[in-house]
Amino acid sequence: MRLGSIILVVALCSFTAYYIYEPIPEEIEERWKLMLTNSFFRSLSHLADLSELLGLKDYMGVMYFITLVEKVVPLSDEHVRVTEEKFEGVEVVLYQPKQQGDDTELRRAVIYLHGGGWCLGSSLMSPYDLLARKIVTELNAVVLSVEYRLAPAHHFPVPYEDVHRVVKHFLQDRVLAQYKVDPGRIAVSGDSAGGNLAAAVSQQLQKEPGQKIHLKAQALIYPVLQALDLNTPSYQQNQDMPILPRTLMVRFWSEYFTSDKALFRAMMANTHNNPESSSLLKFVNWSAFLPETYHRKYNYTAPSVVQGFGREASGVDPPSRLLADPRASPLLVPDTALRSLPKAYVLTCEYDVLRDDGIMYVTRLRAAGVEVTHEHYDTGFHGTMMFTVWPTDFLIARRMTDNYVKWLKENL
Ligand SMILES: *[C@@H]1O[C@H](CO)[C@@H](O)[C@H](O)[C@H]1NC(C)=O
Ligand SMILES: *[C@@H]1O[C@H](CO)[C@@H](O)[C@H](O)[C@H]1NC(C)=O
Repeated sequence: MRLGSIILVVALCSFTAYYIYEPIPEEIEERWKLMLTNSFFRSLSHLADLSELLGLKDYMGVMYFITLVEKVVPLSDEHVRVTEEKFEGVEVVLYQPKQQGDDTELRRAVIYLHGGGWCLGSSLMSPYDLLARKIVTELNAVVLSVEYRLAPAHHFPVPYEDVHRVVKHFLQDRVLAQYKVDPGRIAVSGDSAGGNLAAAVSQQLQKEPGQKIHLKAQALIYPVLQALDLNTPSYQQNQDMPILPRTLMVRFWSEYFTSDKALFRAMMANTHNNPESSSLLKFVNWSAFLPETYHRKYNYTAPSVVQGFGREASGVDPPSRLLADPRASPLLVPDTALRSLPKAYVLTCEYDVLRDDGIMYVTRLRAAGVEVTHEHYDTGFHGTMMFTVWPTDFLIARRMTDNYVKWLKENL
């Protein structure tokens, strides 16, 4: 009996220790809070794996719980009027400043795209709701938060196309006039997968000859920018880092394209490139685009190319073509396509698998002559900026938010 209790206690302790303990770099502030937060994420991820294995609910369906617990009902307050609308059939949440005194003056606008690996997240999660209100009050701006549809129910290009449709609809004189927005002062912004969508839609708009109203700025917060090389130094260095381990990012990428698990397995091994995408590997060559300091101990090897990967997948859109699509991987365009892009703000975090995606884009945009502000956080981890709500509120998130809003204030 006594032995039984001891075994039970030991088992419980090691179970708890396993979930909580994860080597977290010394430099990271509030490490204990991050360990606890991460243990929640890891437990949920294991539960999601189990659920998928047992055929109860798919992995992303269980992970969506994270979105649900943070969802709020968007209410107008003293300063901000919030409405839920549909633009071209896509749900959006509009945050507008409440009129005070002179209301003839035109305002700035930020089109915001939430993160969550194209599979999770919502404009209505409290960190996004709070951020939108902060932008409205500090800039006297309109914020348009887009509730694009999500994978795996809606694979690429549906999430991208939803965003594109909303942006095209908003950037019309009559629509802007309705919300008293200055057509010369509109930015697109997003974090993580939202940063991916923001970068992609910025590229697309400047290619369209009929587009009269242009974006003034793009603000990309730890964006995902390429699916070809999932072994950059940051992917290697941070493969087990909290919030976004490499496995989860690979899962997001593969689910964005297809539910066929063969792509996930190939991406894990970085052997998913095909002859078509391999001709674009030069655009994501970290050996060429990362400053020396980020090379660290890693040596460049080009991802291997597998003849005809994806052929066996019987989906409508073979992943072979999707991989090479710059609407999914904005880094894949030549320099000429970067030249006339709006000025950019790029935020990167040291402890993030996506760090090098962001830094490579900074290098490439600057080389193409685009004005870029790069803010790198030496103690940041992926997703930091949205950890603003108790009990998972981090001081660094507040500093990041303030710096980001300051940039918008000065550059929009
Ligand atoms: C990557 O860049 C390095 C030099 O910076 C070069 O030697 C190598 O051939 C390049 N590889 C690809 C696939 O572009
Ligand atoms: C990278 O290359 C150098 C020189 O060839 C070698 O000494 C080092 O061990 C390599 N690093 C890794 C991580 O393979």
